[in-house]
Formats: sequence, structure tokens, C-alpha cells
Amino acid sequence: MKYVRDIPFKELVDSYHKAADEDLANLRRANEDEGVPLIFTETEEILGLLTGLAKPSRILEIGTAYGYSALFFAKKLPDARITTIERNPVMIEAAGAAFASRKEGERIDFRTGDASQILDELVCELKDAEESEKFDFVFIDAAKSHYREFFESAEKICTENALIVCDNILLSGWIVEADGKDAKRHRTSIKYMKKFLEYLHQRSDLEVSILTGADGLAVIRFLNENRR
Ligand SMILES: C[S@@+](CC[C@H](N)C(=O)[O-])C[C@H]1O[C@@H](n2cnc3c(N)ncnc32)[C@H](O)[C@@H]1O
Repeated sequence: MKYVRDIPFKELVDSYHKAADEDLANLRRANEDEGVPLIFTETEEILGLLTGLAKPSRILEIGTAYGYSALFFAKKLPDARITTIERNPVMIEAAGAAFASRKEGERIDFRTGDASQILDELVCELKDAEESEKFDFVFIDAAKSHYREFFESAEKICTENALIVCDNILLSGWIVEADGKDAKRHRTSIKYMKKFLEYLHQRSDLEVSILTGADGLAVIRFLNENRR
């Protein structure tokens, strides 16, 4: 499903974008040419900044597609391990090949299947784990109607200082203009994304920053003194 319309300043941002390396630049080009969903350059800049500051060692990504963002994390953070989840067979094949053919792929744990089920498995696996085995950075970039569910699972397997970043929260702006023709097609995602943002907002144990860059990002961290 395509959400994103023209983004103001996209060309300008793209012109200043520096890929982590030539391989990633080629991969972006190939994904864009094939119409494969992947993070915008602006989203990549923000993720680069956040991970550069937070220096996570265990990253969880929900929504792999062809593996671009997972490889971005792996290249950007040479000591980090990445777990990424995908359910679409076409994406699984392409991402599997992309990981297998690169050395960074050795640090990527590729879990295939529906994210709800895989997250349940991860919650079981990490139930009694040390903080160091839990995720300190989460990137949610899959089915937009399920963000709350993904978030609630992810937070069970996060360190207390983790950052959780959710992509596409503005749904191309349809989140605020739900009457248009295109918005009608996406009404389920709009409804659930609004509910998700409202849910985050009412949680007093979270600090939620809404960024309007690219297609909108929510950056969430735990206020541990208020944590449930
Ligand atoms: C926007 S794309 C991910 C792009 C990727 N993060 C990147 O930048 O390279 C979203 C992906 O999430 C996958 N997805 C959606 N819902 C899912 C679910 N419930 N479980 C697993 N994967 C899911 C889709 O098949 C799609 O490939």
C-alpha cells in the first residue's frame, strides 16, 4: 500500500544526503526503481542521528521489505546486532538474498512470519533475559493499523533506556484530512494510527516526540520514574 505523496523539500534533502557507502546508495536506487517500500532519505537522516547519539547494540525492526533499513543500521553501527521481521514471501526472498550476500548480514537475525507471532516468540525468549540481551532501539515500520500492538509487545523486550521509533505516523497527511477520496481508502489505517497516537499521548510513563519530517515519526522513550 502506498501512503506517501509528495514531500516538501524532498529533492533538497535528497541532494544533501550521503549514503553510508556505495553499496547502500545502489541498494536505495534499486529499491526505488522497483517501487519497493523503503525509508525516505530524511527518515534515514533522523535514524542516523538518533542511533549515532544512542549507540544501540541491539536493534529490533518490524517491517524489513527488501532489507534496506536493516542494512543501513548494520552498516552504520558495526557492533550492533539487528533483528528484523517480515511476512511477505517476495520481500523475504529479496531480503534473505541481500543479507546473505553481504558481510553485515551476519549480524542480522532475520525472522520471517507475522510480526504479532514473532514478537510473542521474542517476548518468550527474552522474558528472563539480562538488560544487555534486550533491545535498546526499536524501529516500527510495518502494518500501520497494528502499531499499538507492535509497540506493546516491543516495550516488553526493551531496555529501560530504549528508544522506539515509529515511521509513517502522518500517513501522507491523511491523518488530518480524513475526508478526501484517498483518505477514504486508508480509513482503517487512519483510524488506528489516530488511536495509537492518542494512546501514546495518555501514557504518563512515556515521552513522545512527534516529528513531521518525511512521513512523520514518533520517537518514544520511557520515563522510568513513572513506568508501570
Ligand atoms: C514500509 S515496508 C518496510 C521498509 C523497510 N523498513 C525499509 O526501509 O527498507 C513495510 C514492510 O512491513 C511488512 N509487514 C507489514 N505488516 C507486517 C506484519 N504484520 N508482519 C510482518 N511484516 C509485515 C510488509 O510486508 C512490508 O514489506
